[in-house]
Amino acid sequence: MKIGVLGTGSFAPEKILTNDDLAKMVDTNDEWISTRTGIKERRIASADEATSDLAYRAALNAIDNAGIDKNEIELVIVATMTSDHFTPSTAALVQDKLGIKAAAFDLSAACTGFIYAFTTGYSFIKAGIYKKVLVIGAETMSRVTDWTDRGTCILFGDGAGAVVLGETETGGFISSHLVADGSGACELLVPAGGSRTPASHETLDNKDVYLKMNGREIFKFAVKVFPETVENILEQANITADDIDLFVPHQANIRIIESISKRFKQPMEKFYVNLHKYGNTSGASVPLALDEANREGRLKKGDKVVIVGFGGGLTYGSILFEWSK
Ligand code: UT7
Repeated sequence: MKIGVLGTGSFAPEKILTNDDLAKMVDTNDEWISTRTGIKERRIASADEATSDLAYRAALNAIDNAGIDKNEIELVIVATMTSDHFTPSTAALVQDKLGIKAAAFDLSAACTGFIYAFTTGYSFIKAGIYKKVLVIGAETMSRVTDWTDRGTCILFGDGAGAVVLGETETGGFISSHLVADGSGACELLVPAGGSRTPASHETLDNKDVYLKMNGREIFKFAVKVFPETVENILEQANITADDIDLFVPHQANIRIIESISKRFKQPMEKFYVNLHKYGNTSGASVPLALDEANREGRLKKGDKVVIVGFGGGLTYGSILFEWSK
């Protein structure tokens, strides 16, 4: 049985925050942000938009693109690190908004979340438990951003992307590689607000309920593990980077993507990039980029596609699949 992507969708909030806007909020400028990250602007959710709202809109687009009846979906997985609530899951809220009967759960693997969720969705279908699975990556990073920290607030943005997975006539999933190294947990975390250190006046005053990141360490980590995970999935399939038609990497920093392009001796044209428009949307970045690549006609039937994630956990991983549409 071949299992692949039946359709893609995405959604980004209307409000645009440019580098020049940020320069009015913290000591930074467009030149620094552009040359160090490649980011020019990002989207910010409105006060009444939460992660499930963005996820729902991306899901509708993916269902439409797949050309299926929404009631065919038997499982909804939402990869997110910015869920609406501790409980219920964001996936259950999306299931309800869609008005379908389906199992639903969230998956937490930060910026690698969509890679984990895609592999999980694929495995449910492969095991014969479900036939069609909706896999979403959705984030409102603006809600965990410290808007006084220029080291992080220039990077992140809000958005959502989704795919419908199901049986395909051709192509589909080829190989996957997922890794976690919790020894690096402290390099990218929200220190308070969880069971270790519950939210309090003190944690709020210390801004410990916002994301803290050791940018330099994460950069080094990304440049090391990205080639490792891609080599793993290529080896599993006994092919080389030359055989890949499109890489859709986590959209964290253009310098990371450029270093990988050099390392694999592949032209930058083979790497889909939209981080200049959205910044780093964590778990949403890969499906948001995949959907834009699809809608721009960058994917043809039979194309070999590699998607890659890395980030909090620390986690990293990648998937190789063949475009079936
Ligand atoms: O999605 C999860 C994965 N996350 C990532 O992949 C993020 C990976 N890390 C990065 O992308 C980069 O490390 C950053 C973009 C976060 C930072 O770039 P960098 O080249 O590593 O800069 P740096 O932290 O080494 O800082 C260089 C200088 C410092 O000044 P000094 O000490 O050299 O005087 C910083 O204080 O730039 C300064 N700086 C800034 N200047 C203007 C740091 N942030 C800013 C800023 N604007 N926003």
